[in-house]
Amino acid sequence: MKIGVLGGTFSPIHNGHIRLAGTFAGQLGLDWVLFVPTAVPPHKEVPDLPAGEHRCRMVELALQGHPGFELCRLEQQRPAPSYTVDTLAQLHELYPGSSFYFLTGSDMFCTVLDWHRGEELVRLATICTMERGEDTPAQLEQQAARIAALGGETSIIHAPAFAVSSTGIRRQLAAGCRDAARLGVSPAVLDYIWQNGLYGTDPEDYPWPFGQYIALAREREKPERFVHSMNVAEKARELARQYGASEQLCYIAGVLHDSCKNIPHQQQFSLLKRLHEPLKSAIINDNLFSQVPAIWHGPAAAAYIEEELGVYNRDIVTGVAYHTTGRAGMSLFEKIIYVADLTSAEREYPDAIRLRELAGRDLDAAIRESLLFTKQKMQKTATPLTQDTIQVMEEYGILI
Ligand SMILES: [Fe+2]
Ligand SMILES: [Fe+2]
Repeated sequence: MKIGVLGGTFSPIHNGHIRLAGTFAGQLGLDWVLFVPTAVPPHKEVPDLPAGEHRCRMVELALQGHPGFELCRLEQQRPAPSYTVDTLAQLHELYPGSSFYFLTGSDMFCTVLDWHRGEELVRLATICTMERGEDTPAQLEQQAARIAALGGETSIIHAPAFAVSSTGIRRQLAAGCRDAARLGVSPAVLDYIWQNGLYGTDPEDYPWPFGQYIALAREREKPERFVHSMNVAEKARELARQYGASEQLCYIAGVLHDSCKNIPHQQQFSLLKRLHEPLKSAIINDNLFSQVPAIWHGPAAAAYIEEELGVYNRDIVTGVAYHTTGRAGMSLFEKIIYVADLTSAEREYPDAIRLRELAGRDLDAAIRESLLFTKQKMQKTATPLTQDTIQVMEEYGILI
């Protein structure tokens, strides 16, 4: 197996890292790329470096939806300082028979022999770098010759420079930027940074001014739909208080959950193609999803609030995305939005009244009831069930 090893502080990991790994993997034919966050970087001082666990979690979140890329915690598990040579030696033990490709920037490539046990290091992996125009290829060639003389191998590939850098991202975050696309990080990573107050962000920035979202829902929804959305928001807040979730975030998810219900199906479908991974594949690849337009508005609204409104909170995004279908392993937040949608105050049919009473006592019992209700309704109207709904029904012991 050919394994790429990409080390770094990943503070934070950004889209440039992912593209870099992708370019190396493509050009070198790598089967796998391991992202190895350093514990204490031996070559550079990094001010305000978040704890290793934070950086590992961000890497994990950024790598979701990128098969073949994986977090490697080796350097977090060893006592500091973490040396690349030790990591490579350990990887040889863990994956015998594999060949390793150490992926570096050109500055690191040129100094690698000065690193701790550098001469040993270059024999443990092919040292790879990119030629990006700013370094004279001659410099890289000279270094390659030095490494070859010590019995090591190198590979210099050609690739365009990536404009994004962790330093720039930290600076922009401290300056108040909360736009994942502009920062060059995945929405999940931005949400993690924000929720954990990293790099000068403040989790108490939440909630956004409610009025803004309420006005938006009023503008986008038909009058009865808007009444429903406000009732769902109220119900979601009530359930959040009762079951211990964030009242403010549940309220916002309630306000926004049907914000794409009143736009044409075609528009809903094109919106949901803009969902971020891994949510997009998980939803669109559901075998029957494309045949049931009635459920498109949930994921479409998730894409809309993320892309157009800049709401990156994962609870809100997934709560809205799965509010109609449900899915196996729903979070407490997702369950609350799912149940709030079916028990909002304007629903007056007997099932809703019974369900509302049940939701006040036992959230899971209310979900089971709702699923039974959904099953009957779908059978009556001969509407197919998506994989997500089938799986959540199985989880709650309902026979399909
Ligand atoms: Fe809905
Ligand atoms: Fe709804």
